[in-house]
Amino acid sequence: MINALRGMKDTLSPESKIYLHIINTCTKIAQNYGFSFIETPILEETALFKRSVGESSDIVGKEMYQFTDKGGNDVCLRPEGTAGVVRAFVQEKYDKAGGIRRFFYHGPMFRYERPQKGRLRQFHQFGAETFGEASVKEDASIILMLCEMFKALGIGFTLEINSLGCPSCMPSYRTGLVHFLDTLEGLCEDCERRKLTNPIRVLDCKNVTCKGLLHNAPLLVNHLCENCALDFDVLKTTLNRFGISYTINSKLVRGLDYYSKTAFEFVSSEIGAQSAIAGGGRYDRLVEFLDGNSTPGVGFAMGIERLMELVKMPESSREGYYIGALCDEALDIVFDLVIKKRKSDKVLGSYEAKSLKNHLKLADKNYVKFCVCLGEDELKQKSVWVKNLETKEETIIKIEDF
Ligand code: HAM
Repeated sequence: MINALRGMKDTLSPESKIYLHIINTCTKIAQNYGFSFIETPILEETALFKRSVGESSDIVGKEMYQFTDKGGNDVCLRPEGTAGVVRAFVQEKYDKAGGIRRFFYHGPMFRYERPQKGRLRQFHQFGAETFGEASVKEDASIILMLCEMFKALGIGFTLEINSLGCPSCMPSYRTGLVHFLDTLEGLCEDCERRKLTNPIRVLDCKNVTCKGLLHNAPLLVNHLCENCALDFDVLKTTLNRFGISYTINSKLVRGLDYYSKTAFEFVSSEIGAQSAIAGGGRYDRLVEFLDGNSTPGVGFAMGIERLMELVKMPESSREGYYIGALCDEALDIVFDLVIKKRKSDKVLGSYEAKSLKNHLKLADKNYVKFCVCLGEDELKQKSVWVKNLETKEETIIKIEDF
């Protein structure tokens, strides 16, 4: 028997109903916020992720599904959605056209991580990206949109925010941080490497020794330039005005290198160690990194499998019809009725003659509201036998009235 690969899984009913419920709920809300659907390829040039997510990130450094295709191209399965959307934005020359554009997407992402509860190698994200809007109000609006999505899905969360500064305040902060890191002994191997490639990533190391050593590390929130500090204040006051509680986590740097200014993460306390249910932030230089004209950007992505652990589907009621034949002579009429009735309702058809008992059993198993059967008597009377499986009421209805 061939099984799905480690860290990858099938999603079947009833879980698949929850999956669709999440996509449909978030799609509706994203559309209300002016986002339009974008679909980008799952396979992209490896260089795209190296230049956007960053060579120093764990995602690019350790977790890519990277291979050479039959044409000799260095390609990989996308580990996240933002890079592909930015590539499409630049490829379509939207950066030259100017204006504001908003996109949402959903689909599979791939990271060769050590699988555990809530951490898969193939997982699914729902995400959204805004281009051309420099105002921090857009960051606030995206966070509010996420809050609305979680509310609609009945999910509780805590929100952490931070500011990662910009090219005017980040470099001097980084220099100060490196001086501080140079005074430390006993950082883990990863942090020693990060110190050289992207020192700010040392701040959110999960290693207990590193956490202790970094207790007194200088924090960027205390070194923001006037502009970044003002934006961070506007973000906080806007969230306050809308009654959104948050904590400022000055060590939240996120695992992708493209962020500047706003960074945020939504966390759930109910799903174990892999508790981040959504994350995002501003990436005002990413379009330029990918050869476009300078265009501000901000967005988020949520992990659908993690949300599926939290979403409870509303108790569903019986719905639709099951139609079956009691004798071979009724099979064609049953088939025609099934096709016709499907124009207005959910209908399950059975294309083999069976006993009434068997049809009723199948109708019940499929949780339909009505079981409809046709046998010799019904054929003679040009009618159908209908049982309402909720009220148990039985009736005979003329075929033309059904
Ligand atoms: P990310 O934080 O890497 O951000 O991923 C977003 C979400 O995807 C996480 O919060 C988590 O719920 C889910 N996720 C990540 N890795 C896994 C995994 N191995 N298994 C299951 N779920 C996972 C990004 O991907 C950015 N592109 C978000 C963004 C969009 N920033 C700006 N725009």
